[in-house]
Amino acid sequence: MTRRDRTALVTGANRGIGRAIAKGLLARGDITVLAAARQAADARETAAGLGSGAVGVALDLSEPEKVEVAAAAMAAEYGPVDILVNNAAVLVPDTGLELDTIDLVDSLAVNTVAPFALVRALAPGMLERRWGRIVNLSSGWGSFSEGMGGPPAYAVSKAALNALTVAMARSLGPRIKVNAVCPGWVQTRMGGAGAPRTPDEGADTPIWLATIPDDGPTGQLFRDRRPIPW
Ligand SMILES: NC(=O)c1ccc[n+]([C@@H]2O[C@H](COP(=O)([O-])OP(=O)(O)OC[C@H]3O[C@@H](n4cnc5c(N)ncnc54)[C@H](OP(=O)(O)O)[C@@H]3O)[C@@H](O)[C@H]2O)c1
Repeated sequence: MTRRDRTALVTGANRGIGRAIAKGLLARGDITVLAAARQAADARETAAGLGSGAVGVALDLSEPEKVEVAAAAMAAEYGPVDILVNNAAVLVPDTGLELDTIDLVDSLAVNTVAPFALVRALAPGMLERRWGRIVNLSSGWGSFSEGMGGPPAYAVSKAALNALTVAMARSLGPRIKVNAVCPGWVQTRMGGAGAPRTPDEGADTPIWLATIPDDGPTGQLFRDRRPIPW
């Protein structure tokens, strides 16, 4: 693998918005993309499809306590990670009334705790190198200002991811940009066929945040490259 200037880890890169983010970052030509998928075979296939500069890595986020170790091993094998895109997520279509406790626990594990575990594993290296970008894929459904409209387990996990974004931005300081983004309603397995946006359109603001200049914002929530209230 020829080393490019920066390395990005994109979770859930095998389909949907994650794949479009991986594709867009690679298209810049200066970023190696570790395209993470839950299944090793999906990771290999994704990297082969994305082409030069992509490396497939298996990363299951359902057990966050294993994620920190896996991420550290990945950085040791492929070199330091400069850009972390926490994209992978699950959406349990509950109404709240029949929400099982385990659904809330599982949603928080994948959507909130695993992203934190990845920050824990990779942010120290970013701090050492005095450069880093962390992008958390959130949702209007986890936004208090938009009424927390999603199914409860999903909404709570995304609201917590928003809170984590603020807390991490504060503790990592101005050189490591930590931002959250709502990609809009996007045609993916999660968004459904009726959504108005393509995955490439949904990936635009995450890619922009992943490569934002040193005087760019941190600790904010964006949609369409504009800050929006939490
Ligand atoms: N689509 C929308 O309209 C929309 C709107 C607002 C926010 N978002 C957010 O945007 C992000 C991407 O959504 P999407 O629409 O692209 O979703 P998607 O098509 O359902 O893809 C979800 C991705 O997450 C991965 N994933 C799920 N559970 C995992 C686990 N335990 N370990 C590792 N990977 C796991 C999936 O892997 P597998 O293929 O193995 O299942 C898949 O790659 C999510 O954070 C979502 O909440 C989406």
